Formats: sequence, C-alpha cells, structure tokens
Amino acid sequence: MTASADITPSQLSTLSKLIYSETGIVIGEKKLALLRARLAKRMRFTQKRTVSDYMKQLQQDETEFLHFLDAITTNHTYFFRENRHCEYLISQLDPSVPVKIWCAACSSGEEPYSIGAQLMDGGFRFSIFATDISDTMLAAARTGIFPKERLKQFPKPSLSRYFQRGQGKREGSVRVKPEVRHHVTFGKFNLIADRPPDIFDVIFCRNVMIYFDTATRQKVIDRLLPALKPGGYLFVGLSESLSGIRHPLINQIPSAYRKN
Ligand SMILES: C[S@@+](CC[C@H](N)C(=O)[O-])C[C@H]1O[C@@H](n2cnc3c(N)ncnc32)[C@H](O)[C@@H]1O
Repeated sequence: MTASADITPSQLSTLSKLIYSETGIVIGEKKLALLRARLAKRMRFTQKRTVSDYMKQLQQDETEFLHFLDAITTNHTYFFRENRHCEYLISQLDPSVPVKIWCAACSSGEEPYSIGAQLMDGGFRFSIFATDISDTMLAAARTGIFPKERLKQFPKPSLSRYFQRGQGKREGSVRVKPEVRHHVTFGKFNLIADRPPDIFDVIFCRNVMIYFDTATRQKVIDRLLPALKPGGYLFVGLSESLSGIRHPLINQIPSAYRKN
C-alpha cells in the first residue's frame, strides 16, 4: 500500500491546519509532497493501514502526535552556518561583560555549539540557552555527538580544541568537549505558544521563520522582543528578514538587528 495515494484533500487540509496551529508551519502546495511522504513513514511505523486510522491515533496518543510534528519539521543545520552573524556579534561584545544568549529553534545543536566554541576562543564569559520544539532534536543536541561530515565548515585548526574523536564503535563521529557543552543548556520551547523564560543580551532565531506566514512571524517577534535587553541583538536567518513586520529594532548588517 502507498499511504500517500490514499489521503483525501479533506484529510490533507485537516492535517495542514493541525500543523499550522501547533507549530506555525505553513504547508503550502510545495510542501504537500513532503507531508505525504512523512505521513506515509509514520503510518508504516505505527502500522496503520489508512490515513483515517492514523489520524485517530494522532488524536488519542500524545507521543505519536509529537513524533508526527517531529517528522514534518525541517531540521537541516550545520556547524558555522551563516557565521558572519557570530563574527559580527563578537566584534560588538565587551569581553569584560558576561553575555546571555538564547538560541531559539536550535535543531540538533550545531548552532549553539558553534557560537559557544567561538566565544570560548575569544575568552568571553557566557551562557547559551538553546531551545527547539522537537524533543528528538533536543535529545540529539544534548549528546553533543555528531557525524564528522557536519564539521566541514568548522575551522580545521580548532577541531581538536573543541571535539573529541570517536573511537571504536563511534569511529566517524565526534563529540563536543565538556568545556563547550557546559556553557549550553537545552530546553523545549514552542515559538508560537510559550512565554520566554528569561531576558537575554542576544537572541538567535534563524532559519525557522521561513516556514511561517507573516502573521505568525509577527507573533513570534512580538514574543521575542520583551525577552531582549535594551542594546541587545536579534539575529534571524540570512534568507529571512523582518520586512513586513512591525518592530522597533535597528538593522545592523543583513538579518541582524539591535534593540534601542
Ligand atoms: C532548519 S532548522 C534551523 C536550525 C538553526 N537555527 C540553523 O539556522 O541552522 C529549524 C528548526 O526550527 C524548529 N521549529 C519549527 N517550528 C518551531 C516552533 N514553532 N517553535 C520552535 N522551534 C520550531 C524545528 O524543529 C527545526 O529544528
């Protein structure tokens, strides 16, 4: 059975609305194929023969509901992605002042660990709170273990300073050293539903708002702004911007903003 062929337009519409209300992610025409494929995967996993049976399970089973949301989110990330933001931040920070950073939508952790390694290099005192909606990504991030291939953009001379090479069964993977991991705390946070737990000097919220419509982007920015200190920095993804969003921030470099 190919599960995807059996989804009716009305079921697709119900699932798209559910995803939108829970995560803010818009399932447009282009994403329908992805939704079908991921749904089929979850149906195989839960051994449901029809979409209707699977949807009933989604309603009754919180764990499966979380797996479903996990399956439809895009978690692609890598070390040193869009690193000009971190370089810019370092050029602006005063090394004598401790800095509190929130990495919202951190996926599997490459982003906060990349920032952490560079701040350690610069001798900064800092803490990073890294959050995501996905339990699976957060569990992976907490291990600090990554396949070597994810490090392609990590500067070679610093590799051994921040990573331990896997031996034996772990050959081919690396682990972020405890010195870096100790600076990073992970937690679950839904950008469209949860209240920020603290106030930060810097917020990174990158490559997630591309999946949201303007109304949701506005909602997310309205939620993040009170959590940013005056003088603090907000970074969004390089393919994102705050155009069309009401905010009081001042643009510094592409996709980097400062609060007055
Ligand atoms: C493409 S990754 C971006 C990772 C990283 N920030 C980067 O720039 O490489 C997008 C992440 O956003 C998360 N996400 C999607 N909707 C979310 C929401 N409503 N609240 C929090 N995180 C969300 C996904 O689970 C995913 O890990």
